[in-house]
Amino acid sequence: MAGLSVRRGGSPKARSLVARAVVVGAVGLLAVAGAVMVNSSANAAASTLGAAAAQSGRYFGAAINAGKLSNSTYTTIAAREFNMATPENEMKLDATEPSQNNFTFGSGDTVFNWATGRGMRVRGHTLVWHSQLPGWMQSLSGSTNTLNAMKNHITKVMQHYQGHIYAWDVVNEALNEDGSRRGSVWQNQIGNSYIDQAFQTARAADSSAKLCYNDYNIENWNYAKTQGAYNMVRDMKQRGIPIDCVGFQSHFNPNSPVPSSFQTTLSNFASLGVDVALTELDIEGASATSYGNVTRACLAVPRCVGITVWGVRDIDSWRASANPLLFDGNGNKKPAYQAVLDALNGASPTNPPTTPPTTGPTNPPGSGQLVGRASNRCVDITGFNTANGTPLQLWDCTGGWNQRWSYTNAALVNPQSGKCLNVSGTANGTRVTLSSCTGATAQQWQFRANGNVANVQSGRCLDAVGQGTANGTALQIYDCVAAGQANQQWTLR
Ligand code: XIL
Repeated sequence: MAGLSVRRGGSPKARSLVARAVVVGAVGLLAVAGAVMVNSSANAAASTLGAAAAQSGRYFGAAINAGKLSNSTYTTIAAREFNMATPENEMKLDATEPSQNNFTFGSGDTVFNWATGRGMRVRGHTLVWHSQLPGWMQSLSGSTNTLNAMKNHITKVMQHYQGHIYAWDVVNEALNEDGSRRGSVWQNQIGNSYIDQAFQTARAADSSAKLCYNDYNIENWNYAKTQGAYNMVRDMKQRGIPIDCVGFQSHFNPNSPVPSSFQTTLSNFASLGVDVALTELDIEGASATSYGNVTRACLAVPRCVGITVWGVRDIDSWRASANPLLFDGNGNKKPAYQAVLDALNGASPTNPPTTPPTTGPTNPPGSGQLVGRASNRCVDITGFNTANGTPLQLWDCTGGWNQRWSYTNAALVNPQSGKCLNVSGTANGTRVTLSSCTGATAQQWQFRANGNVANVQSGRCLDAVGQGTANGTALQIYDCVAAGQANQQWTLR
């Protein structure tokens, strides 16, 4: 994955994150306790959007623009408030494949590295769209030729970020307002099957990413385009096309106001067996009431996994004159910000039941290597030693048996040794070892939507010591950082 980097531990920023972990750890602990014990008292109020959303297992994201990352007001707000990032333009087709089979990931990587270096996850946006196409794509002709170009684009872009993207908007805005298919080079040259083929190609390219259909004006249940999208997704699910999620862009203005049926729409799509999310939220004028309402619509639907606003401050918006965002041009919180934060803090403290992709090796539950987000290294049984008490460490992923884990009855079992990922204690800093499986809660782990792997006994999270990323870094349990922190985020794959 040339061009991508991860921030190494030990920097001033990393040290401040360690300090913050102690402060916000209580929130993460409560969230875990709430999920494990089924019900508990309300959470303490969180003070950022990301941390508040994480209390119910959701994320709160923003569109991030590479050109703004040199502005410290912008980056201060973005790093503090959000735990999901969508590159606003940097992963679009004109940015990533300006001439045929010549892929350029510079600005995409800039946003990706900035976000993941701060413990955020990334939504990839977007692989197949009618807009922001390079010239050569606009003039493609012939069904086979166009299909091959589409498949190559999807495959190469997804492989560049393979294993590191939470969800991809595979197809964006494929419908007309009446619910029929929108004309585009893809539709016109390939025909109706292009959407199926895009999703199938995407699953083959990176089975760890959730695959989404994304569109605007599909929020009102009583609207033809919404019905068109619903029928399309239902049909895809029935035919086994690999689609995991639907993104509702949620660009609202007086011509397209927040509909009272939005929660119904989210819930109806979710019952098709997909996650739903608000992916590009902005509301002209930023009414606090409207922002609160859309947030509560998501929170009321268990499979509404998160909300992304389309920019940070009003001056960053693609519709800047509409003042549609949560921060004003000076970076001050607007009344809508407080309405959203209050709504998030009012959510019940349970994780929504998110589903992993329907095919492919990515789990939980399942088996594979347990890969750290910060280090890109694997949880490894030191020295291939199967004795009880052998410490686990980070090491380059080798595919060896000492890096294989199977998630079975909430335990992480190494199939070769038959032994389990274990902690003998509950305190911060307790080291993670290999030990005979007992079925005890000390050996049970909960995979959480923010990437955390929480120990059921202690509620503390699997953590690379000192935010280390090097070979040989020890593993411990430590207070979970509710907003997500890269040395506490793991993928079983
Ligand atoms: C917009 C960006 O915000 C602008 O900077 C760019 O000039 C045009 O695209 N639907 C989408 C987004 O899916 O990608 C669009 O983003 C807004 C509408």
